Amino acid sequence: MTRAAEQGHPRRRIRTAVAALTSAALAATGMLAFAGSAHAADTLRGAAEQSGRYYGAAIGPQLLGEADYTSTLNAEFNSVVAENAMKWDATEPNRGQFTFGGGDQIVAHAQSQGMEVRGHTLVWHAQQPGWVQGLGGDDLRRAMLDHIDGVAGHYAGQISSWDVVNEAFEWDGSRRQSNLQQQLGDGWIEEAFRAADAADPAAKLCYNDFSTDGINAKSDGIYRMVEDFLARGVPIDCVGFQSHLGQDSDLSTYQQNLQRFADLGVDVEITELDVGGSGAAQANVYRGVTEACLAVSRCTGITVWGITDKYSWRGDESPLLFDANYQKKEAYYAVLEALNGAAAEGPGQDGDLSATSYHPASWRESGQAVS
Ligand code: XIL
Repeated sequence: MTRAAEQGHPRRRIRTAVAALTSAALAATGMLAFAGSAHAADTLRGAAEQSGRYYGAAIGPQLLGEADYTSTLNAEFNSVVAENAMKWDATEPNRGQFTFGGGDQIVAHAQSQGMEVRGHTLVWHAQQPGWVQGLGGDDLRRAMLDHIDGVAGHYAGQISSWDVVNEAFEWDGSRRQSNLQQQLGDGWIEEAFRAADAADPAAKLCYNDFSTDGINAKSDGIYRMVEDFLARGVPIDCVGFQSHLGQDSDLSTYQQNLQRFADLGVDVEITELDVGGSGAAQANVYRGVTEACLAVSRCTGITVWGITDKYSWRGDESPLLFDANYQKKEAYYAVLEALNGAAAEGPGQDGDLSATSYHPASWRESGQAVS
């Protein structure tokens, strides 16, 4: 199962998550009173760094002028991703004309704060500019490859990991019938990964998707693709699990799912975490996801899909760690405590076996962005 992975991609920077030196001691003391412990960090980034992981947030460059937004970002996070600013519609609104203003602002801010930058996303069926949607066959292939070359090339050397391809699978594990799939055939995903590898040999290259929050038909399909890519030497380094969840989400196979991908020989990342709900129920799902990542040595970090409920794409579901007034929520403290190594129990949650992932109905049906 790991044979191809062991050949590796020597040019890539492999971030080995270092086990927290303090974890055994903390586990032995049971519940960690993080306020009183010499070992406990009091920020998400500080706590994540203890095990060599990042804790990131999706951000918008237009919000960096808001003092509370930026001070929370700088204090709590050591990784960022552009919520929209590096997508195809934002970076190449007209064919061959690249606009990097928003993405560049994010990269500059991150570098000034010692943060990593995840790249999101090179190829996706949604948020394509209008001119892409009308292209067929080889014209679309050329456009896709040129886009990857333009964007990944522009940011080469500055991105820790790229979501090269986003959301290309259906619930049943088959390929999503997007324009990319229909015009280019099954080979388009590996073509995209090879192009990204050529454009930025230093970035880790991820496949990213939602509703992969356990062992299910969809994650099975992605698993088979990764296994095949590794066996054939297609460059892939990581799988992103978006993890748009709700407080009733079933996490009973969440860790096991991360682990099976890690065992194939790729890193795993929690890339777009948010949890609709409130209070203890919401906090418990956040805790479960955090503990699952910590339990998998190749889980290199967690990104939440926004900083504050004020600007969440999930509107009134209050899915993030800071409320609309930038106050820390119960979920924040659960994550901090878990990152500090307090909780020894596994990530399993009782609950509804259905609906493990949240996407608005309009998103599912149209396959398009909800704005
Ligand atoms: C969302 C953004 O948060 C919104 O602002 C935008 O209107 C639509 O896209 N999966 C992804 C992300 O990979 O890019 C999406 O982000 C959320 C779902």
